[in-house]
Amino acid sequence: HHQDTNHLVMSMHRLLKFPIASTFPLFSVQLIHVACVCAGHNASRDVVTLVKSILFHRRNPLHFHFITDAVANQILSLLFQSWMVPSVQVSFYDADELKSEVSWIPNKHYSGIYGLMKLTLTKALPSDLTKVIVLDTDITFATDIAELWAIFKKFTGMMFGLVENQSDWYLGNLWKNHKPWPALGRGFNTGVILLYLERLRRIGWEQMWRLTAERELMSMLSTSLADQDIFNAFIKQNPVLVHQLPCFWNVQLSDHTRSEQCYTEVSDLKVIHWNSPKKLRVKNKHVEFFRNLYLTFLEYDGNLLRRELFGCPTQATSESIRLQGALEELDEDDQCYDFRRERITVHRVHLYFLQYEYTLTGDETDITLVAQLSMDRLQMLEAICKHWEGPISLALYMSDAEAQQFLRYAQASEVLKNRKNVGYHIVYKEGQFYPVNLVRNVALRNANTPYVFLADVDFLPMYGLYDYLRKSVVQLDMAHAKKALVVPAFETLRYRLSFPKSKAELLSMLDMGTLYTFRYHVWTKGHAPTNYAKWRTATTPYKVEWEADFEPYVVVRRDCPEYDQRFVGFGWNKVSHIMELDAQEYDLMILPNAFMVHMPHAPSFDISKFRSSPGYRYCLQTLKDEFHQDLSRKYGAAALKYLTAQRNI
Ligand SMILES: *[C@@H]1O[C@H](CO)[C@@H](O)[C@H](O)[C@H]1NC(C)=O
Ligand SMILES: *[C@@H]1O[C@H](CO)[C@@H](O)[C@H](O)[C@H]1NC(C)=O
Repeated sequence: HHQDTNHLVMSMHRLLKFPIASTFPLFSVQLIHVACVCAGHNASRDVVTLVKSILFHRRNPLHFHFITDAVANQILSLLFQSWMVPSVQVSFYDADELKSEVSWIPNKHYSGIYGLMKLTLTKALPSDLTKVIVLDTDITFATDIAELWAIFKKFTGMMFGLVENQSDWYLGNLWKNHKPWPALGRGFNTGVILLYLERLRRIGWEQMWRLTAERELMSMLSTSLADQDIFNAFIKQNPVLVHQLPCFWNVQLSDHTRSEQCYTEVSDLKVIHWNSPKKLRVKNKHVEFFRNLYLTFLEYDGNLLRRELFGCPTQATSESIRLQGALEELDEDDQCYDFRRERITVHRVHLYFLQYEYTLTGDETDITLVAQLSMDRLQMLEAICKHWEGPISLALYMSDAEAQQFLRYAQASEVLKNRKNVGYHIVYKEGQFYPVNLVRNVALRNANTPYVFLADVDFLPMYGLYDYLRKSVVQLDMAHAKKALVVPAFETLRYRLSFPKSKAELLSMLDMGTLYTFRYHVWTKGHAPTNYAKWRTATTPYKVEWEADFEPYVVVRRDCPEYDQRFVGFGWNKVSHIMELDAQEYDLMILPNAFMVHMPHAPSFDISKFRSSPGYRYCLQTLKDEFHQDLSRKYGAAALKYLTAQRNI
């Protein structure tokens, strides 16, 4: 096996999207290859549960091969990069390039064209990969995948390892005129396949499955179960090529199956296959047990899977070397060690957790509302969607279990379900501080429009703000000038507010004391330069000068500087960003007919911690000083004014 592994390793260097710094060590344990076809947002979410269940039980190094469309590629490549699981490699193959191989096959199965792509693996995967385990995304492992891999050893001349289909589908006669594709007996289920690629290539599989498909399609017209029909028709002609796997390697939970006859003890179970769009609602006497197993991995903290494998040398990636270096540079006696440690923590990120659709408007004026939140602000989402019809990029700071809660919430909400132009990006929780600027940056980086409105999730934009801002972007020639358009911020202390429908209405509410300028009672400096007195009567945009602690909500071009990630928890997260915009000579322009209103909520955990801890305040001051030094280094003498402004307070 060693030679085998070593040989593969050479070719993997070519294939890997993630650079490996050192050479791949010879493992005393075997490298296991897993292939999966994954397309779209939903499958990219489902496949994570499969991956977690494999990682949880495994003791071997793994190499995942994902056949992906552009969506799944974007989601999974960042997820694995940021997950940094030791002894796991990931390669991606472009499903679009494989489409022409299978698009000629008429198919009625819900998996669509992607379901058929399993037929093309001998071609899609590296030509020197000899064996692979092929899995559907709706599989959960209850055991170490190495046990399944070991079955390859039992193959005498065989090329497929498969479990019998546990339904009666291929027996035919399920209803009048039910005519399934030809199959051996009940047929085989292709949710779990041991695929001996090397042997299949040798017999010319690429031609053979095509011939089978062409022949059967003359009478069948289309496939009902995608790749599975073609595999089965082929196997019927060549039964000796199959090694039948015990059925506990693919316990199928679709309706009307005989899955219970497949195992005597639930503890024998090795792989569960949720092969029904109805998934969790199937009737099986152990379904509770299955459901719990599935939910366990669904909500399992993925950070725990970053553990090293026992007795397995870890290959160092350039990223892990960089992090190790950064970690070693930290001084453990530093009073602000925790803050600095947080700054180099890599959080797992799952982009586009829900379905997302957005097409660029042709006129290059589109604006994305950018914000971040955690579980405790979820209830704001519906209201924001009602106040802003344009695209939204949201980063959500959550645990794995909270992300599932969020998913259920979003799927139950009529308002959220009907909005496809909201990108939800999960940043998984880790460490003791809220890494607010890191989370903001994830939302900012994943906005797809030329402009962004950098907002906060506890604000409601005025009705019509989206259209007004798009007009302002043109009027103020944002495409050719460095400008930050300020949306003046107000607040209410009332949970039930009849939201002002115009500037005139807002002004009268200000006069009546139903509304205030933002942070009027606690921190006027944050928005003082907006000059609310001037704004009352302004009819055209006016420029203001930067002042210390100014933290307005602004519209800028998407290529604006990112937030400084050293600021975690409470304090200076937006202030530092606005300062940097000013250092880069952005003009701060106040919009005369725009406003947003802060809605009341309980104080966040980090604020309470800030208020009660002198250590926290000391470290924030230290970080501020370092930020100033960095600004001067970057922007020269001009940046000295920030230091002076700070001292004068
Ligand atoms: C993804 O799942 C949602 C329900 O959660 C469904 O409405 C949507 O149609 C699915 N998308 C695709 C492309 O299957
Ligand atoms: C087996 O047959 C059933 C039809 O009853 C079908 O729905 C299923 O997809 C087939 N294969 C699997 C995956 O069980």
